[in-house]
Amino acid sequence: MKKVLLINGPNLQLLGRREPDIYGTVTLDDIVAAQHALAAELGLTLTAFQSNSEGEVVSRIGATLSDGTDGILINPAAYTHTSVAIRDALAAVRLPAVEIHLSNVNGREEFRHRSLTAPVCCGVIAGFGADSYRLALLALAEILRRDTEQRKK
Ligand code: DQA
Repeated sequence: MKKVLLINGPNLQLLGRREPDIYGTVTLDDIVAAQHALAAELGLTLTAFQSNSEGEVVSRIGATLSDGTDGILINPAAYTHTSVAIRDALAAVRLPAVEIHLSNVNGREEFRHRSLTAPVCCGVIAGFGADSYRLALLALAEILRRDTEQRKK
């Protein structure tokens, strides 16, 4: 069974109460539960990790080199726009990664338009609220399926 790691960055533990007009009323626990259910349907195992600390996110990404993770889903939250360290960690481990945002970052303040992490991800899903997570997991499952097919050839 392929292993997916879901990483959530700073302030996402406040989902449900945090700026609900922008981020909706779904909690992070609800999102993680839905991700576990969808992963099981897709034949994947999922581990979820949330941290408000940049260093902890960097360390967790680095740990994927020895814990059998096959792919990463990441909402780096505010670190999307600032973190060279998270970008370098994603580049270092070279696992397929999909970047997630609940909000349509490109339609918001200009400082949210730039993502330092997107260039080292396979793609970005943004703007669909909690469904961004669902769509991202479907995309990652497809990437992992194709990788497996490719290896068989
Ligand atoms: C976010 C968008 C970021 O700009 C913001 O800092 C967040 C959440 C989103 O999911 O829409 O914390 O990543």
